[in-house]
Amino acid sequence: MRPNIRPATAADLDAVVALDQACFASAVGGAALTATPSFTGPWSAGAWAEEFARVGNDRVVLVANEGEVVGYVVLLVPAALEDPVDLLRIAVAPAERRTGIGRQLMSAALQRCTGRTILLEVAESNESAKALYRGFGFTEISRRRGYYAGGEDAVIMRWQEDHD
Ligand SMILES: CC(C)(COP(=O)(O)OP(=O)(O)OC[C@H]1O[C@@H](n2cnc3c(N)ncnc32)[C@H](O)[C@@H]1OP(=O)(O)O)[C@@H](O)C(=O)NCCC(=O)NCCS
Repeated sequence: MRPNIRPATAADLDAVVALDQACFASAVGGAALTATPSFTGPWSAGAWAEEFARVGNDRVVLVANEGEVVGYVVLLVPAALEDPVDLLRIAVAPAERRTGIGRQLMSAALQRCTGRTILLEVAESNESAKALYRGFGFTEISRRRGYYAGGEDAVIMRWQEDHD
């Protein structure tokens, strides 16, 4: 079944919290969020509730739904168009990976970023995420040495819509 990609609603909160636990409990790194305390592990239910509360303000949360929530992406979208969008988090349920859901979530996210620049941070060792991002034209622009717990570098990647 091809998932339906749609904006998250309050009814999705518990499922997203649970999926985030499943995806990040043992993860190192991730597309980190400067304004959120936990860069590397799952976000708390409270942190997720804050993200959901900011939807319609400066957050976009999309979910992939296949009868249940199997993926999500979170963007920080500043009101000022010249400010970059931050891709804060993207994940797909472990059992559903490599079936194109991450790509669908990224496509839906990028469609909402016409004319914008997008930045993200990803752990150096996160080859699957880096490959996904590169496939959409993200390029490495810098690094934060030893940024993550354990000393791993954060790779900072940027996407800009092609204006040609
Ligand atoms: C990164 C992640 C979201 C990718 O989701 P996904 O649904 O498996 O990705 P897709 O099936 O859409 O794959 C799209 C492309 O990404 C790349 N990719 C995805 N998984 C990969 C892997 N394990 N190894 C290499 N490349 C991979 C490939 O280029 C792939 O295209 P292809 O299948 O045609 O080769 C998923 O692996 C995940 O949830 N990881 C844990 C959470 C995380 O680290 N998130 C990123 C930081 S916030």
